Amino acid sequence: HNALHAAIAGVSTLALAATSLGALAAQSITVGHTTSDSSHYSEGIDAFAAKLDELSGGEFTVEEHPSGALGGERAMIEGLQIGTIDVVVTSTGPLGNFVPETYVLDLPFLFEDYDQARCVLDGEIGQELLDRMGNHDLVGLAWTENGFRHLTNSQRDVQTPEDAEGLKIRTMENEMHMAAFREMDVHPTPMAFPELFTALQQGTVDGQENPISVILTGNLWEVQDRLSLTGHVYSPAIMLASPIMWDGLSDEEKGWFTEAARAGAEATRSMVSRLETEGVEELKEKGMTVVEDIDKSQFQEAVEPSYEVFTDEYGSEMLDRIRNSS
Ligand code: PAF
Repeated sequence: HNALHAAIAGVSTLALAATSLGALAAQSITVGHTTSDSSHYSEGIDAFAAKLDELSGGEFTVEEHPSGALGGERAMIEGLQIGTIDVVVTSTGPLGNFVPETYVLDLPFLFEDYDQARCVLDGEIGQELLDRMGNHDLVGLAWTENGFRHLTNSQRDVQTPEDAEGLKIRTMENEMHMAAFREMDVHPTPMAFPELFTALQQGTVDGQENPISVILTGNLWEVQDRLSLTGHVYSPAIMLASPIMWDGLSDEEKGWFTEAARAGAEATRSMVSRLETEGVEELKEKGMTVVEDIDKSQFQEAVEPSYEVFTDEYGSEMLDRIRNSS
């Protein structure tokens, strides 16, 4: 009888201990992004979650909301500011609307290749820009990556800037991108990404531009049959946290988040690199016509005047620093 009591007491003590461990482990971090759960962002969030779990001994779990379930990128950034979302992975597309200092990164043909872009973002300039997030009710955890953007459309093969004239192209809600497309006599139509697939399907726009991973894992090849490897702009991405969540963390916990975010960025970047070649082959297999032989200098020349939209407003200091950093 006594033994039974002791056993029951033992079991309930264990249960209690498990519950309190459970309570500790229960800080769930809501992470939102707009690409699919097979995308480069999702790959990075898996690595972020694994690292955070490892560093915190299970204190934090990550709840991923892909495919724009929590809204488009602009809406999610607002969500961070008011604390309805904890962490967001977003391109810099709408970020300049919140943190204008980041517009410099959105200039077309600014970065020559992945190495240069990654090096700038991982260096002093990248850190300075991450720190600026703090002035705008945001916390910059790490720069990650979307990739070089390429043009797709449903009308014709685009090999030169002239071929693109008159096309109606969905762009991100980004002044610098829109200015560049206007210089090419393309009609830029800014739109949040979650609306894009339907807009392409219904012909509201003729085309769009995004990195290979997005075109592939977002199934854009289902509604676009021409791809031109223009690589007209490097699209950085950033992992941002809500200051409301952040302020509740200890310094040690903050360190875990930063380290985990870097691990996430690394995983994302390696997928972007892999798909830059493999993904193009896959898109061909899926029926896209790919224009690979592109004289980028023609496009670069066409969009060059759009740089003034930036320098008139923000000067050229940051631009020069980036250019001199390679
Ligand atoms: O086109 C966009 O809006 C962005 O590139 C995307 C797909 C949301 C990824 O950040």
